[in-house]
Amino acid sequence: MGPREFYDSLPSTQDRALVLAREGAPEGTRVVARRQVRGRGRLARSWESPEGGLYCSVVLPCPNAHPGLFPLTVGARLAHALREEYAIPFALKWPNDLLVSEDGRPARKLSGILTDEVGSPTLGRAVVVGVGVNVRLDRSALPAPLRERVAALEEFVSPVPELDRVEEIVLRAAVGAVEWLSSPDGTEQARALCRKLLYGVGQQVTVDGAPAGTIEALGDDGELWLSTATDRVAIWAGDVRVAEAP
Ligand code: BTN
Repeated sequence: MGPREFYDSLPSTQDRALVLAREGAPEGTRVVARRQVRGRGRLARSWESPEGGLYCSVVLPCPNAHPGLFPLTVGARLAHALREEYAIPFALKWPNDLLVSEDGRPARKLSGILTDEVGSPTLGRAVVVGVGVNVRLDRSALPAPLRERVAALEEFVSPVPELDRVEEIVLRAAVGAVEWLSSPDGTEQARALCRKLLYGVGQQVTVDGAPAGTIEALGDDGELWLSTATDRVAIWAGDVRVAEAP
């Protein structure tokens, strides 16, 4: 692994890692913070980052093919690793969230993944993979509407995992995703795992707030196929929500 920058507090590990990537940071360079004050999520949202969670961004070489499959593959490998380690049934919500889905209650978000591509003098194209995992969670530090929509590892794992251990698991998932998408066989493995863990198949969804259809399958390039009353449509971007999910 590359060099590791550690901060008690930072605006965003993602923004710091992007600066390092543009300056030519070597593969595997990591930025970790115990809290973020301007954590970023997908679609220009903020990512609440109180102390107790893992906030980590890593600089990696960008796989050349299937960009839409990459964040899903990181998520699928992370979900798989957390299932193996802690026996919790995480699911993968398109395109970048890990959810905990329990009988009788709405699925809740445990982790979010953000990937940003950037030019790098050392790597050519680099990808910065930013991952937030709720490990311990003080819900009073979150805005009220979020409190019931998030999950944390501390609810499921005893003793609560050390942040350093969760960081190792996250890094392995990110590096493994690059490896998989760098070969045809690995790409097939990535598709199979993403499909196995995909959340919401057979359920109706909205896209950017409008009813859009029922999740049918994940396409070869990471697009989400929906069936509508008359057709099939592929979704490549946007805010997809399953009825009761976060
Ligand atoms: C999302 O769910 O939309 C993605 C959230 C990604 C959050 C992580 S926390 C570490 C890294 N730094 C950031 O500012 N964002 C990512």
